[in-house]
Amino acid sequence: MKYRMDVAIPTPKEWVEIILNNFDEFLIDHADNERKASAMGMSFIAKYPDRTKMIPALIDHALEELEHFKGVYKIMDERGIAFPHKIGEDKYAQELVKLARSGREDRFMDRLLIASVIETRGMEKFRMIEEALEPGELKDFYKEIWISEARHGDLFIELALMYFDQNEVMERLKYFNEQESLIMNKLPLRPAMH
Ligand SMILES: [Fe+2]
Ligand SMILES: [Fe+2]
Repeated sequence: MKYRMDVAIPTPKEWVEIILNNFDEFLIDHADNERKASAMGMSFIAKYPDRTKMIPALIDHALEELEHFKGVYKIMDERGIAFPHKIGEDKYAQELVKLARSGREDRFMDRLLIASVIETRGMEKFRMIEEALEPGELKDFYKEIWISEARHGDLFIELALMYFDQNEVMERLKYFNEQESLIMNKLPLRPAMH
C-alpha cells in the first residue's frame, strides 16, 4: 500500500543534467548514501531493541540497501573510481534530523518519518536519472533502485503505524514532507544525491 507522501517540491531538471555530466563523481556519493541507508535502518534496532515486531523488516531493508551499495560499488570499480580519502558531510540529512523531537517515543516516530521522506526523495531522484539515461544496463539498474526506494518510503511509515496513531503519524509526515522540500531547496545543486 502507498503510504508515502510525494515530494512537496520536485527536484529541478538542472539537477539531473549536473548528474549526467559528472556521473563518476555522483557514483561516489550514491554509493556512500546506500551504505548509510543500510546503517540507518540497523540503527533503529540498536536504539530500540525492544521493538521486536519491526526487526525482520529492518533486516530486509538493511540487506537491500547493502545490495544497492554492492551494485553501485561494482559500477565504480568497473569504471576505476575509488572512494576519496574523506567523504563530505550530508547537510541535508543533518538538517532533517535536527527537526526530530527529543523524548524517546517522539524521537522514534520522527526518525522513522524522516527515513521515509529521505527514501521518497531518493526514489524521485533515481527515477529522474533512470528516465534521462539511454537504454542499457545502467538505466535498468537505476530503475531497480527507484522501485526499491519507493517501497522503502512506504516501509518506514508502515513501521510508524505499528506503534503510533495513524492521524498523528500522517500529520507529522506532512510536516516532514514540507520541511524536507524547504531544506532541499536551500542547498546548492551539485553532482550528489543531496
Ligand atoms: Fe537504496
Ligand atoms: Fe532505500
